[in-house]
Amino acid sequence: MTRILTGMQASGTPHLGNYLGMMQRTIDLQNDPKNDCWYFIADLHAFTSHPNPDTFRQSQTDCVLDWLALGLDPAQSVFFRQSDVPAHTEAFWLLLTHTPLGLLERAHSYKDKVAKGIEPNAGLLTYPVLMAVDILLYAANAVPVGKDQAQHLEMTRDLAQRWNHKYGDVFTLPQSLIDDRVAVVPGTDGQKMSKSYGNTIPIFGTEKQLKKAVMSIVTTSADLGDPLDPETCNVMALHRLMGNPDVPQLEADYHAGAIGFGHSKKALLAFIWEYFAEARDRRTALESTPEMVEDILRDGAKRAQEQAQKQLSIMRDNLGLSARALI
Ligand code: ADP
Ligand code: TRP
Repeated sequence: MTRILTGMQASGTPHLGNYLGMMQRTIDLQNDPKNDCWYFIADLHAFTSHPNPDTFRQSQTDCVLDWLALGLDPAQSVFFRQSDVPAHTEAFWLLLTHTPLGLLERAHSYKDKVAKGIEPNAGLLTYPVLMAVDILLYAANAVPVGKDQAQHLEMTRDLAQRWNHKYGDVFTLPQSLIDDRVAVVPGTDGQKMSKSYGNTIPIFGTEKQLKKAVMSIVTTSADLGDPLDPETCNVMALHRLMGNPDVPQLEADYHAGAIGFGHSKKALLAFIWEYFAEARDRRTALESTPEMVEDILRDGAKRAQEQAQKQLSIMRDNLGLSARALI
């Protein structure tokens, strides 16, 4: 059995980058009986950017419903919210005291955010340690993520090795599972699609929202009838990443100048709408059964806490604390 684990930050509505970079694979992995899958909503990580509490509540709901609608099956995978499992925050402190400051200061995502002018809080700097704990508490073998998370996985391995060196064979070293074909999904502005850049195409937006997003994808300017270059076109990149079977025809039409970018965008819109049609129906059904969704998360948290607490007890013991705190 391979233990697969991954989390998604609840900092906004899931988008095509999340789907193609990570969520789609979590569903495929879950459907392989050789895998034991653990998936969670990383709600505590979201606080590094101080979300508005009301929109944050909605983002969490969106993440949960979207993942379930896309096929995450709680009968096959453990599905939980990070904040429902208190072992994460306790283990975070223990690991934090074993984390060299220099390691954190070298993190690309931290440096990028500071370079963008974000005033860093200590949570932003120590974010990778909480993420390491998320992974190590579950002895995960493999972690499906987008390429932007590769360094965080390296840091997790580094921290696990340091601990193991000191205290014995405590932590399993996880591998990252990065799919190079969809490593970076472009957003409507051509940059990496991200909830924090306002350039996303939502998975389950209304038809109007989806249309607005797709039509706003940045392209070069060209006169009608001009040949277009499919290799440098963001719309085409999304056709390919979504697996649209019409790609060869579209490429030929681009080269021949037979279609404009507007036509290509309309085709993409129609493809995306149809692609998620079944999942959209499942999502509508889930929305009307919030108690069932809460039950799924409660059950997931129970199973997660049981596993996480076992690993935390070993960490406590390593450090000379009683293996289990008195409750
Ligand atoms: P965001 O950047 O929108 O906040 P998250 O950090 O919540 O996204 O990412 C959740 C998962 O989706 C991660 O595994 C991340 O690597 C993946 N992901 C996010 N955006 C993209 C993208 N544009 N291309 C590929 N993968 C992505
Ligand atoms: N940092 C990840 C992201 O932004 C989210 C995350 C938190 C995560 N904890 C994790 C991913 C543990 C994989 C494993 O996408």
